[in-house]
Formats: sequence, structure tokens, C-alpha cells
Amino acid sequence: MKRFVFATNNPHKLEEVKAIIGTKIEILSLKDIGCHADIPETADTLEENALQKAKFIYEKYQCDCFADDTGLEVEALGGAPGVYSARYAGDAHNSEANMRKLMHELEGTDNRRARFRTVFALILNGKEHLFEGIANGHIATVRRGTAGFGYDPIFIPDGYTLSFAEMGNELKNKISHRAIGVQKLCKFLHTL
Ligand code: IMP
Repeated sequence: MKRFVFATNNPHKLEEVKAIIGTKIEILSLKDIGCHADIPETADTLEENALQKAKFIYEKYQCDCFADDTGLEVEALGGAPGVYSARYAGDAHNSEANMRKLMHELEGTDNRRARFRTVFALILNGKEHLFEGIANGHIATVRRGTAGFGYDPIFIPDGYTLSFAEMGNELKNKISHRAIGVQKLCKFLHTL
């Protein structure tokens, strides 16, 4: 059976990816391979960050692996917070503070278009492959819903009136940026 390490410590992401990839390909977590390192993600683009994480694992463990990076890109802010989404309001990964800052930046702005963009970087036999998933939508004027994480309460995907945090994981995981990116990665892995 083909085997890949997914360079993440996030159990939600791991389950989401395993559910889409199915049982014909084995996915190992960082924990499964005994990796407890704080993997650097210091680049300025999602692509480079995802590659940096995958390369770190490849070089240390010499195994086929993939990693992802996600950002919320807001049109009126020139694509910010983008690659800096996790630390938009400071260093603490504080979703409440991040949303507050974003709502503040958009006060009085009519253009609230935004998109979540995920990049998966795969290293297979030493060769790099990138897969992108995008969810287009807009930023709400008030927070809505309690499911999900990060910016979910203020992101309304196109074609829906519910925020990601109101729709719950089952629907979100069918239409999200990450789901689209994983589906592309999965399609590629099943052609091997
Ligand atoms: P990461 O690449 O998954 O670490 O994502 C970076 C940051 O983007 C996270 O800390 C969240 O703030 C935000 N983010 C990523 N994916 C999502 C999502 O599906 N919903 C809401 N926020 C997200």
C-alpha cells in the first residue's frame, strides 16, 4: 500500500484528509512517525510555506509526504491577511482578535469579497507537486455560528447564506478550500 506522511499536528485536518483519500492509501501523521519538531513556516507565500514544511519532513525522514498552508485573502485589503492569517492580530493564533481586526479594517468598505486559499505541497520520490483549493465568498458584517475554527464565523461562501461556522463541518468539508485542494491531491495519488 502507498504511504504518505501528512505534515500536520492538527487532528481535524488529518481526519478530513483521510476521509477524502480513502483506505487504499495510508496516511501517517507526524505523531505516527514520532516527529515532535516545531516545523518552520517562515516563508512569504502559501506555496513556499507548504513546501518548506514538506521538505523539512522529506529531508529528515526520507519519506514521501505532503503539507498544506491556508490563508484568507480579502480583495479590498490587497489579499491580506493571506499567508499571515494565523497571526493577523499578533502572535497568539487568536481567532477572536484576528476577526475583530479584519472587521475593523473593512469598516465602511462596500467590497467585502474574499477567498480562502489552500496549497498542498507533495514531495514524491524527491519531486515537488503543488495543488490549490479555493473557496470564494465574502466577509459578513457580524459573526455568525459556532462550528469550525479561525475565521469561519465571518466567512460566507458563494451560493450560501450561512457562514462556514453556521453550516457545520459536514457541509463545510464538502465545499471548502481544503476539501478542493485535497480532492486534487487525491486524484493525483490515485493515478500513481
Ligand atoms: P493553516 O494553514 O491551516 O495553519 O491556517 C492558517 C490560518 O488560516 C488559521 O490559523 C486560521 O486562522 C485560518 N484558516 C485556515 N483554514 C481555515 C478554515 O477552514 N476556516 C477558517 N479559518 C481558517
